[in-house]
Amino acid sequence: MAELIKIFEYEVIANDFNIAGTASSAIKRNLKQLGISPVIVRRVSIISYEAEINIIIHSNGGNIYLEIYDDKLTLRAYDNGPGIKNLELAMTEGFSTASNAARELGFGAGMGLPNMKKNSDAFKISSTEEGTKIDIDINIE
Ligand SMILES: Nc1ncnc2c1ncn2[C@@H]1O[C@H](COP(=O)(O)OP(=O)(O)OP(=O)(O)O)[C@@H](O)[C@H]1O
Ligand SMILES: [Mg+2]
Repeated sequence: MAELIKIFEYEVIANDFNIAGTASSAIKRNLKQLGISPVIVRRVSIISYEAEINIIIHSNGGNIYLEIYDDKLTLRAYDNGPGIKNLELAMTEGFSTASNAARELGFGAGMGLPNMKKNSDAFKISSTEEGTKIDIDINIE
């Protein structure tokens, strides 16, 4: 059984582009402080940034949790809806429903979820109107 060492929680506010990247920057800083290897920190940074931006541009807001175990990191991105209607479509490279405002800021390539999955050792996503839940493991040994 993996031993849980520490949990961090970060709040992500919907539509707040001004502070986009705050949670993923904090995650990066916390992992560096814990002495996690640069290769792992880079993968988690990609995952957490995409998760954070998705919560900001597509959801009503939510939280990201980072759990540190002795042999893995678990990242959970949980939001308060409105959910993803077609998960298979959402996971397809190039599919995006991003608004024009989000596209003007450079988001909306439809690559976030596929890139999160690529950088994960285990990737789970589920979604209802109540919210989307993404659970990701990254092995650290
Ligand atoms: N948390 C979420 N809540 C609701 N819908 C979401 C959420 N995350 C993703 N989606 C839906 O899944 C689609 C694909 O997400 P993905 O992150 O792959 O691409 P994107 O955010 O549109 O563009 P990119 O990430 O490349 O800037 C989104 O356009 C949106 O329709
Ligand atoms: Mg995205």
